[in-house]
Amino acid sequence: MARAKISLIGGGQIGGNLALLAAQKELGDIVIFDIPKAEGMVKGKALDLMQLKPHDGYDANISGTSDWKDLTDSDVFIITAGLPRKPGMDREDLLEINLGIITDVAKNIKKYSPNAFVIVVSNPLDAMVYAFYKVSQLKKNMVVGMAGALDSARFRAFIAMEVGCSVQDVTCMVLGGHGDTMVPITRVGTVGGVPIESLIEPDRLEEIVNRTRFAGGEIVKLFGNGSAFYAPAQSAIEMAESYLRDKKRIIPCASLCEGEFGINGYFIGVPSMIGKNGVEKILEFELRDDEKSSLDNTLEAVKKTVLETKL
Ligand code: APR
Repeated sequence: MARAKISLIGGGQIGGNLALLAAQKELGDIVIFDIPKAEGMVKGKALDLMQLKPHDGYDANISGTSDWKDLTDSDVFIITAGLPRKPGMDREDLLEINLGIITDVAKNIKKYSPNAFVIVVSNPLDAMVYAFYKVSQLKKNMVVGMAGALDSARFRAFIAMEVGCSVQDVTCMVLGGHGDTMVPITRVGTVGGVPIESLIEPDRLEEIVNRTRFAGGEIVKLFGNGSAFYAPAQSAIEMAESYLRDKKRIIPCASLCEGEFGINGYFIGVPSMIGKNGVEKILEFELRDDEKSSLDNTLEAVKKTVLETKL
């Protein structure tokens, strides 16, 4: 069988790490795409990764380009094209610039690889994935946004740090938009099956929930220029891997809701099964009243940015 073709739109901080992780997992051959001005940079990253092969031993070809034709018939796209945040900016401040970029990317993906599975990472995520879907008119199950995978990983990391246990045994779920209104569902969080609500005092848990909500901003502030890239890259790779290997993992993703959780017509973070048909299922469950109102609140925030796309 031919290797899968994975195209990375944007070869910056996240894009470079996506290429490394996809190669190390042998998910397929990788093409890193960027604007003409950055073509040398992505060709250089690709060459560097080809030279890492003898150490890691992965069988994957990595190339860089600024020509859309080289992306023809890709199986998966991961889109990080756009500007990252600077200190003092929230994800919504990026809307205007990144909307222009995502529109162009959507048209090209539709033209060169209309059957691909597309993972959008560019911010503001909830609006960018919506815009991509509207412009590309790809099937709804083949378009998804990476947000909940990262937000849940951050929540899990903070819980493991608090309890002092292996992060492998921590399960947490963050739903809703990829912004400060996201909804960490503490009720379903567990450490080795033990509910986190019975292990951590409510006030302390609230602090951890808030740190999760602002975890991206915490890193933006530390960097001073740019936003997080290691954990975002790995979060998107897990989604791509679940699709390519038909793993049917349940990952919180920005999927198009059509009635699920009472939400209609918006991409928002919900537990999603990813397999060979893309987003194969959204796992709905009964929410408590306070969780429901938090989800309503995040939905309003998502609607507000989506409205600004005028799509
Ligand atoms: N097509 C392809 N690539 C583009 C385009 C375009 N039209 N416009 C910009 N790019 C490229 C830039 O040249 C740059 O190499 O996108 C890349 C973005 O990389 P970084 O600036 O390093 O940003 P990164 O940290 O990778 O984040 C990318 O993901 O999490 C989000 O908020 C983040 O929106 C940001 C995106």
